Amino acid sequence: MLHRRKFIQAATATAGVTAISSVIAQSCSSEKDSYKKAVSQIWRHSVNNTKLTDNRALQRELVRYSTLAASSHNTQCWKFQLEERLISIMPDLKRRCPAVDPDDHHLYTSLGCATENLLQASKAFGLQGTVELESAAPIKIHLESTTPFSSSLFQAIPKRQSTRTEYDGQTLENKELKQLEQAATGDGVNLIMITEKQAMEKVLEYVIEGNTAQINDPAFVEELKSWMRFNSTEAIREGDGLFSQSSGNPSAPHWLGSILFDLFFTSKAENQKNTNQIRSSAGIAIFVSEENNQSHWIRAGQSYQRFALQAAALDIRTAFLNQPVEVEKLRPQFANYLEIGNRRPDLVVRFGRGPEMPRSLRRAVESVIV
Ligand SMILES: Cc1cc2nc3c(=O)[nH]c(=O)nc-3n(C[C@H](O)[C@H](O)[C@H](O)COP(=O)(O)O)c2cc1C
Repeated sequence: MLHRRKFIQAATATAGVTAISSVIAQSCSSEKDSYKKAVSQIWRHSVNNTKLTDNRALQRELVRYSTLAASSHNTQCWKFQLEERLISIMPDLKRRCPAVDPDDHHLYTSLGCATENLLQASKAFGLQGTVELESAAPIKIHLESTTPFSSSLFQAIPKRQSTRTEYDGQTLENKELKQLEQAATGDGVNLIMITEKQAMEKVLEYVIEGNTAQINDPAFVEELKSWMRFNSTEAIREGDGLFSQSSGNPSAPHWLGSILFDLFFTSKAENQKNTNQIRSSAGIAIFVSEENNQSHWIRAGQSYQRFALQAAALDIRTAFLNQPVEVEKLRPQFANYLEIGNRRPDLVVRFGRGPEMPRSLRRAVESVIV
């Protein structure tokens, strides 16, 4: 009799656990489906170009392509104003990151990334964009009719991502390195390409020093945490920020993700990750603009975006490791190592071949048009 009751209790418990697991599994799989759907709606080319005869609809579509650009912490710190033959890109100062980016360098660089996507997309839709950069805000892009030209950089817009994982450790062909270099070359920005292992180790030393300083800074950590999206529900709801899975971390309810972040986001763990990431990369690209002002930061963003699009077109992954240029005390030492005089190193980007990672999301186009 006792035996039988125990058996019934055990069976009931097992059934309960199975039911809960099945609910979790169902909610996980529906979460996965929603995330997949969001990704496919965001990371795509235009569905039907023939509908875009309406000027407003065409400009909205150009803005959509523009928002697929990189932005620091995925803040999407941009606003767009649409006028006849003119699109203006303005900073959204509510989305500043004062801890990691006190002088708004990354904010304006992000606007440069968006500008470049807009230019590439405009050409594909038969519009030649000319950027007016007299003052950095707003960035005015004048649009004139031209013969449509769908460049390989335009084709690569939905393929580009910041791929935060280890790469395959293989070198790239010289021809590919040249193509990357050519894509990045432009007005007022120089590129330093490092592919030699010893020099990459030196950059790694600066990354580790910067990383350690940042993780020891509570303001940096708190700001970063506020942009973390610990699960896909949260990522879809906000449409911005850093989705944990994009960096190879597990998805978790907010309360648990927050605890795990506090426990595991340590300089030791992150330094080890960065070490593996750099040692598995084919090289590191450093973007250095000729002058240290907002309009040159925008140009640096344009240059990075072309570089990353060219990389994506060649199935090469890229990811930022900006610690040496973000930590103010370290930046001049890094510049000294690079022998660039008193110019400011803007961005540090590693590259190589490897798997794709889960994608970051974007806010709706309507929410960035003013
Ligand atoms: C100016 C700038 C600085 C960035 N710095 C870093 C960085 O230091 N580390 C990093 O992992 N990602 C960095 N990113 C990448 C963004 O987090 C990324 O663009 C954003 O999350 C959107 O993801 P996506 O590039 O895959 O579209 C930076 C991006 C920009 C534009």
